[in-house]
Amino acid sequence: MKGYGTKTFGQLNAEQYDMIYEDLMLEETLDSVETLAELAGDGKVLELAIGTGRVALPLAARGLSVHGIEASEAMVAKLRQKPGGSAIPVEIGDIAQVRVKGTFDLIYLVFNTIFNLTTQEDQVCCFKNAARHLSAKGVFVVETVVPDFSEYVDGQRMKGSWAKIDSARFEIAIHDRVAQTIAFQRIVIGEDGTRMVPHFMRYAWPSELDLMAQLAGLERVERWAWWNRSPFRSDSKSHVTVYARARQ
Ligand SMILES: C[S@@+](CC[C@H](N)C(=O)[O-])C[C@H]1O[C@@H](n2cnc3c(N)ncnc32)[C@H](O)[C@@H]1O
Repeated sequence: MKGYGTKTFGQLNAEQYDMIYEDLMLEETLDSVETLAELAGDGKVLELAIGTGRVALPLAARGLSVHGIEASEAMVAKLRQKPGGSAIPVEIGDIAQVRVKGTFDLIYLVFNTIFNLTTQEDQVCCFKNAARHLSAKGVFVVETVVPDFSEYVDGQRMKGSWAKIDSARFEIAIHDRVAQTIAFQRIVIGEDGTRMVPHFMRYAWPSELDLMAQLAGLERVERWAWWNRSPFRSDSKSHVTVYARARQ
């Protein structure tokens, strides 16, 4: 999608992100924080694409030392306004490239954000960057959906989100099955006009993510369907995967 860059998500979503996702995902956030805290033990933690701190802040509140990398200053500005938000060191930059001082015992990339890297090359670089920052016994956790095209017809899907008396929201998604990309346009029509919130992502199947991990010198040690460690099956809609340094 021409014009869609690493900062676009934040520019379009920072203002509403917490209102939309914090309430909607409260249970999910609590589940992820619980499991991530167990994986971290008392080690150092790095969140790739920390956003407004939805997950990082509750982890820091448990006494963990949490750092972040994030492309969008607008998202980080929201993090800074929250209690504890100014104490978390955040490096502004691309999770596929940016280096942070030191190594970490837990690095995590959640909420489908690996797919925000819009090329295979960038996704591989992100695995390599995570590997670079892992301590010898550290783990890298990736949480994302398993792609699902059951609602697509001829490479596209149109879906309504709401129809209220004064507004409607619908989403158009265009699938490129060779590039493995989906271009979304979310359109809200209301009395005060039309607002568009585009999104662009490159998806990867779980097996492709495992290959990226291999290229980065990592191996999969766990794959759950969800944060409660439920078994991953062929019909699972999401996965939480734990990678560690490959044994020699
Ligand atoms: C879906 S939000 C997730 C935020 C946070 N991790 C959470 O779970 O609430 C995706 C985040 O990734 C950030 N982002 C997208 N591409 C990025 C990139 N290449 N490097 C760093 N951050 C990126 C966006 O700015 C946004 O904050």
